[in-house]
Amino acid sequence: MSWFGERTKRSWLERVGINVVKCGPIPAHIAFIMDGNRRYAKRSNSPAIEGHKMGFNRLARTLDWCLDLGVREVTVFAFAVDNFRRPAGEVDGLMDFAGEICKRLLARRDRLNETGKCVRVLGDLTMLRPDIQRQAADIVLATRGNGGQHSLNICFAYSSRREIAAALGDLQRCVRRGVIDVADIDSRLIAQCLYAPECSAPDILVRTSGEHRLSDFLLWQTSHAVIEYVPVLWPEFTLWHLLAAVLAYQRNCWSTVGARQAIEGVDDVVDCEHREVRQQRVDNCLQYIHNKRVDQLKCMAGGGD
Ligand code: FPP
Ligand code: MG
Repeated sequence: MSWFGERTKRSWLERVGINVVKCGPIPAHIAFIMDGNRRYAKRSNSPAIEGHKMGFNRLARTLDWCLDLGVREVTVFAFAVDNFRRPAGEVDGLMDFAGEICKRLLARRDRLNETGKCVRVLGDLTMLRPDIQRQAADIVLATRGNGGQHSLNICFAYSSRREIAAALGDLQRCVRRGVIDVADIDSRLIAQCLYAPECSAPDILVRTSGEHRLSDFLLWQTSHAVIEYVPVLWPEFTLWHLLAAVLAYQRNCWSTVGARQAIEGVDDVVDCEHREVRQQRVDNCLQYIHNKRVDQLKCMAGGGD
């Protein structure tokens, strides 16, 4: 079942392409910087919001292709903190549109739950209008119980540097309250305090529109991702571009897996004398941060969960 409606049909050639690529290893997680919507709109003298709507249609199709391929997790950059500096009309239009998308997902909550689909919204939600905060919190709370057979992570009011700073801020609070010691903080603990620690690290990061930049997106999480810069605007992104990105991953994935295992094996805390006691402090700290975030979401949500 598709994320947003009925699944679109594939041509026989598309089915062949998908099946050929499926003979190789399939990435568990793909992240997309959906860039180029305004340039696309400008070509037809349309307002920017029309470009974003075309971009959303492309996202819905891309999510279907990811389901066909067996990709379990997709993360999209839908609104950067920097985007608040755009003209007010465009920002308001994007906010209204995002609210509609949340409502649409919420109307499908039963089907999403039946098929194990979980929606997460990653970002500083306090920067959003209260109505958008409520809609975002509602869909997150409504689907968070799913095992995450398939996850859609929507980065909204998102900045990777803010995300890392927020994680450090939470850890600092835990130190001040005596929940952990400064020496307990290592890279693994910082990673567990990012917006959605339950998310896997993306295997591929795709950016469209020919720009070769990360733009403050998932800077921590993409340390070992294969990066694919695609020279078309996001609304022009096709299945063939996606398959090319997966093929690039398949050529690189063994070295990526090796590099990831190497960093995951590194224990930053050298003094292991009180390992168990430290683990207890770390667990308490993570529980404290988790509870704080769930309380914040429940506060934002309309009907709770
Ligand atoms: C970047 O293109 C795109 C955005 C800032 C918005 C992306 C939003 C959508 C595709 C709608 C989907 C929304 C949700 C909530 C899932 P740009 O505006 O930077 O275009 P440009 O590079 O041509 O200026
Ligand atoms: Mg852009």
